Amino acid sequence: MTPRKIIIDTDPGQDDAVAILLALASPEEIDVLGITAVAGNVPLALTEKNARIVCELAGKPDTLVFAGCDAPMKRKLVTAEHVHGKTGLDGPQLSAPTMPLQDQHAVDFIIETLRTEPSGTVTLCPIGPLTNIAVAFERAPDIIARVQEIVLMGGAYFEVGNITPTAEFNIYVDPEAAKIVFGAGVPLVVMPLDVTHKALTTKPRIDAFRAMKTPVGDMVAAWTDFFERFDMEKYGSEGAPLHDPCTIAYLIAPHLFAGRHINVEIETESPLTLGMTVADWWRVTDRPANALFIKDIAAEGFFELLATRLARL
Ligand code: RIB
Ligand code: CA
Repeated sequence: MTPRKIIIDTDPGQDDAVAILLALASPEEIDVLGITAVAGNVPLALTEKNARIVCELAGKPDTLVFAGCDAPMKRKLVTAEHVHGKTGLDGPQLSAPTMPLQDQHAVDFIIETLRTEPSGTVTLCPIGPLTNIAVAFERAPDIIARVQEIVLMGGAYFEVGNITPTAEFNIYVDPEAAKIVFGAGVPLVVMPLDVTHKALTTKPRIDAFRAMKTPVGDMVAAWTDFFERFDMEKYGSEGAPLHDPCTIAYLIAPHLFAGRHINVEIETESPLTLGMTVADWWRVTDRPANALFIKDIAAEGFFELLATRLARL
């Protein structure tokens, strides 16, 4: 099977870091053409630095990392240091990266890659706010039809919001960008909180990372130890939801996931419900389906895949 060519658009973030590690540990299925950083969990200067730290941790310093948009399309940036810490990768002590940041802007890299790779062969995996993707689509509408698929982490229906009562963080930070991406007509797979909240880093699962006795295993255990406190306090859950790795796991093992093709619209007007993904799960409207909205995961299988692959690094 030829590996799937992907661009990971990301705002590391501990869970983003695990997603990047999983992708870089899976060359049979995934060919990471580049990693594009966006402002989100923490400002862009940190997300691009964190992306490089993770690539070096994976032993892949030749990975192309690009800095993208430092603010949403129309709004002030909202960050999430309360979840991810000041650096965005709080938990363990980390040294500064030595691998280079690419000079090219992330949006130009996305446009150029989609124009030069054969049409329909590049998948976009946004796991942060959708600013870079939406700006690329606005600046170069010709690339939209050339995207193979978008597999993103964002939104919620049954779980409703995690940053406001009605909105999930990635969508809330840049709802105008999300509206552009969800309305672009590209085949879309959405990993909302409904599924990611079933991928919890319970103690046995974190112990499995630690039992690897590798720098990657120790780092992932330290990140999840730090990252889980927010969700455990808020939801009383027995661990943190590993949101972003669900997108990469879907590319490697789609059988681990189940969902429905439904219509999903983005609220961009109401201050009360700004950034809500209005998911027609019960198909009560005649709005056309535009997304495979994932609701279930085989969590044990997901964590087995994660542990097996991360142990390779
Ligand atoms: O709401 C969860 C999402 O917001 C994840 O992508 C996490 O990294 C943060 O960006
Ligand atoms: Ca993220």
